[in-house]
Amino acid sequence: MSILKIRKYGDPVLRQKCEPVKEVTDEIRKLIDDMIETMHKNEGIGLAAPQVGVKKRVIVIDVGDGPLALVNPKITKKKGRDILEEGCLSVPGIFANIKRATKVIIEGLDKKGKKVDIEASYLAARALQHEVDHLNGILIIDKISFFVRRRLKDKLKKIREQS
Ligand code: NI
Repeated sequence: MSILKIRKYGDPVLRQKCEPVKEVTDEIRKLIDDMIETMHKNEGIGLAAPQVGVKKRVIVIDVGDGPLALVNPKITKKKGRDILEEGCLSVPGIFANIKRATKVIIEGLDKKGKKVDIEASYLAARALQHEVDHLNGILIIDKISFFVRRRLKDKLKKIREQS
């Protein structure tokens, strides 16, 4: 397994819509393993493929009960709402209150290519929604108010310049 480089805000790969995976091959399994290792190494609770420069619909999360990987994830049901502070490895040092569903049902393929349906709540539900956003080129800074964004302007500029 290898630790991959995390792409930061300002890198165009984070703004692209990722492509569905046609088949879960050994190459995809290797990507999943590397993403899990990279997430753990960086003390993140989730990671999406574009964050390591890969334009494919693959996400991993680990909210404390072991890693979960999903290929072609699709949220089919959302329930409840709450607001919680979130960060992102691609936007380091920025924390923002984000409104998300508290429960989701998400379907996708597991590492073996088998179709799975997963019900998640609270932190896991939040992490899954955050990672699926990444696959559509959406970052947490897109979900904050204009005023908060303006306050973060200089910090964001710095991250952009270093990316
Ligand atoms: Ni993120």
